[in-house]
Amino acid sequence: MEHRHLGRSGLRISEISYGNWITHGSQIEEEAATACVRAALDAGISTFDTADVYAAGRAEEILGRALHGIQRETLEIATKVYWPRGAGANNSGLSRKHITEGINNSLRRLGTDYVDLYQAHRYDFDTPLEETMRAFDDLVRAGKVLYIGVSEWRAEQIADALRIAAELGLERIVSNQPQYNMLWRVIEPEVVPLCEKEGIGQICFSPIAQGVLTGKYKPGELPPAGSRATDEASGAGFISRWMRDDVLTAVQGLLPLAAEAGLKPGQLALAWVLQNPNVSSAITGGSRPEQVRENAAASGVKLEADLMQAIDNVLAGVINRDPAQTISPNPRPS
Ligand SMILES: NC(=O)c1ccc[n+]([C@@H]2O[C@H](COP(=O)([O-])OP(=O)(O)OC[C@H]3O[C@@H](n4cnc5c(N)ncnc54)[C@H](OP(=O)(O)O)[C@@H]3O)[C@@H](O)[C@H]2O)c1
Repeated sequence: MEHRHLGRSGLRISEISYGNWITHGSQIEEEAATACVRAALDAGISTFDTADVYAAGRAEEILGRALHGIQRETLEIATKVYWPRGAGANNSGLSRKHITEGINNSLRRLGTDYVDLYQAHRYDFDTPLEETMRAFDDLVRAGKVLYIGVSEWRAEQIADALRIAAELGLERIVSNQPQYNMLWRVIEPEVVPLCEKEGIGQICFSPIAQGVLTGKYKPGELPPAGSRATDEASGAGFISRWMRDDVLTAVQGLLPLAAEAGLKPGQLALAWVLQNPNVSSAITGGSRPEQVRENAAASGVKLEADLMQAIDNVLAGVINRDPAQTISPNPRPS
C-alpha cells in the first residue's frame, strides 16, 4: 500500500482508504464489518472514513470496535458533521453548537480521544462561515481534531474558507471529499485547479460508482443477490442513479480494457481515480473482505495514456463534467 500526503499537509494517508457508508450498522452484520476492517488493515489500509450520520451513529460505533486494540498511531481516522442527527433545533449543520456536540459524540462512539480529520459533510448556507471556521479551529486547539476538511464543497466555497482562515489566522482546511470516478468528473473544471493551487487534497468517494464500475450490474438483468442494488434499506435508492441501461452498457465496454491491463474492472476504476495527482486517496467501500483485498491491490498501479484515452472513448456520452452538479442543500435540512 502506498501513502500520499493529504494535500500540502504533513499527514500521509493510504491511497486506498476504507469507508463504511451503507455497509456498517445497516447492510451487513457486525461480524462481516469487522472482517472487512481486518482485511483492510492486513492489506495496508491505514485510513478509515465514516460519518456521524451513517446508520444513525452505528457505523462509527462498529468502526470504533473493529479498530479497538490497533495501535492508534498507525491509523488515520476521519469522520464528518453536518447532516441532521435527530430532535432539536440545532441538531444539524455547521454551527458552533452542533460542531462541538458533534465531535464529542463522534469521539465517544469511535472510542478515541481525537480524529485525524474532521470534515464538514456539506456546505451550510445557514451558518456564517466565520463561525464554522472558528469552531473547527477550536477543536484543533483542543486536540480533538488534528486536521480539518470539507466534503462536496464548490470551488468558491473552498476559496471562501481559505480566505477567512488567512484573514483570521485560523486553521486551514487541508482536504475536500467529493464524489469522483470515471463517470462523475464534476470536480475537474473548477475544484481541482483551485485545490492544486492551494494545496488541498481530494479524498474521493464512490470511486467505483458504488460497485457499478466493477461491471457486475448487467443491462437488462436483475442485480446480483446481496449487492447494494438489492439493499432496500438504503443502498438501492443511492445506487439507482447509475442503474440505467446506457450507463451499464457503456461500463461493459471497460471489461476488455481491464482484462488487457491485467486488472479487475474495480481495480481499473480505483487506479483511474489515483492517476489524478490532486487525489490523496480513493475511499472504497466493501461488504466482503475479498472485495477489500481486491480493491487495495489497485494502489501503485500506473495507467498508460492510451488506456486512459480508451476509457474515455468507451464511456463517451455517459460522463458528467458539470461543476454545477456539486450541490449542498439550501436551506440546510434539519
Ligand atoms: N462525503 C460524502 O458525502 C460521501 C458519500 C458517499 C460515500 N462517502 C464515503 O466514501 C466511501 C465509499 O463510498 P462507496 O461505498 O459508494 O464506494 P465504492 O467503492 O464506489 O462502492 C462500494 C460498494 O461497491 C461494491 N464493491 C466494492 N468493491 C467491489 C468489488 N471488488 N467487487 C464487487 N463489488 C464491489 C460493494 O457493494 P455490494 O457488495 O453491496 O454490491 C461496496 O460496498 C463511503 O463508505 C464513505 O466513507 C462519502
